[in-house]
Amino acid sequence: MATLDLNQINKSFGSAKVLHDIDLAIQDKEFVVFVGPSGCGKSTLLRIIAGLEEATSGQIIIGGEDVSRAHPVERGISMVFQSYALYPHLSVFENIAFPLRVQKLAADDLKERVERAAGILQLTDKLDLKPGQLSGGQRQRVAIGRSIVRNPKVFLFDEPLSNLDAALRGDMRVELSQLHRQLDATMVYVTHDQIEAMTMADRIVVLNGGRVEQFGAPMELYHHPATKFVASFIGQPNMNLVPATVEGVDANGVAVSMEGGAKLVLPVDGSNVSKGDRVEVGIRPENVKLDPNGNIDISVRVLERLGGASITYGEIGDNGTKFCASLGGDAKLVEGAQARLSISVDDCHVFGEDGNVLRRKNAPELVA
Ligand SMILES: Nc1ncnc2c1ncn2[C@@H]1O[C@H](COP(=O)(O)OP(=O)(O)OP(=O)(O)O)[C@@H](O)[C@H]1O
Ligand SMILES: [Mg+2]
Repeated sequence: MATLDLNQINKSFGSAKVLHDIDLAIQDKEFVVFVGPSGCGKSTLLRIIAGLEEATSGQIIIGGEDVSRAHPVERGISMVFQSYALYPHLSVFENIAFPLRVQKLAADDLKERVERAAGILQLTDKLDLKPGQLSGGQRQRVAIGRSIVRNPKVFLFDEPLSNLDAALRGDMRVELSQLHRQLDATMVYVTHDQIEAMTMADRIVVLNGGRVEQFGAPMELYHHPATKFVASFIGQPNMNLVPATVEGVDANGVAVSMEGGAKLVLPVDGSNVSKGDRVEVGIRPENVKLDPNGNIDISVRVLERLGGASITYGEIGDNGTKFCASLGGDAKLVEGAQARLSISVDDCHVFGEDGNVLRRKNAPELVA
């Protein structure tokens, strides 16, 4: 069993506090991704789990055992970094075998473990080559092989794919997901790329300014973002955030008048807002339709025809509020013209001035 519990982790560098009260319970065999913008504390948190950095306060429990004071090698973890630091003069076999040589493992046991890792990572026919003779993706797999042979309880990855080109990253994403299934191991993966987070994670931790904004399954974060930050971080193109004024609150929800003139009654809990409050209405570009009887007019500035979809960038209202719609590939639109769009109130998210979402009425139970 390799559960990973973080209890009230805080970290300061001098007077700068970079992690605030982090509480996370990661399950055995779970693939958890830490995602967030640069500087939000992802690597610091991972390094604290690894024991490469000491928390200012808080506990790290791996498999039920408190390892907060344990040396990195005693924690049963293994970490793969962005720069994979292979030894250029050693073969692939010796690079993978390196931690086992340090442990002075018996030769036949060592050979068996290296060959098993190489098999999983499809490096069997590369074992005699030097790192310089490999592609970027293959080199990254060697680095992962070096962490597999140690049979860690928990794998930690810090942006392992960011040095690879886009196509290779796509391939490696799939390979890492397969590896997770094959190894049946607990994995914590750091990235600032929300697509990696969405595609690989069982659950995602969104970090912002050293705090956990939300921890949940990818589609839970997509459909039910708890904050404006999560809403705009998850999903591509980003969610539109349209300024609006509360016109009234009743049992049906919150009536708003949005920038651009649309008046909607949104089925959300209005107990924290009242008439005259400023809110923001979040609408995903993919939830917008081209509709002559619609409720939003957009001045189309730029059209990106991707084939299957037309990403339409423009403005609504008189104050330059930007708006993006993902419409059909052949949508009848021209740059510089007006278009009428419709949105459904069921697809709208409403955020108060504090950035927290107004809970939806009758929010459907999420099936994980
Ligand atoms: N050794 C250190 N001394 C002082 N400040 C540090 C140190 N390491 C990290 N920090 C600060 O802690 C904050 C979090 O850094 P961290 O490296 O964890 O961010 P990150 O989320 O991994 O960012 P990135 O996506 O750019 O890798 C930053 O403000 C950084 O400047
Ligand atoms: Mg980092």
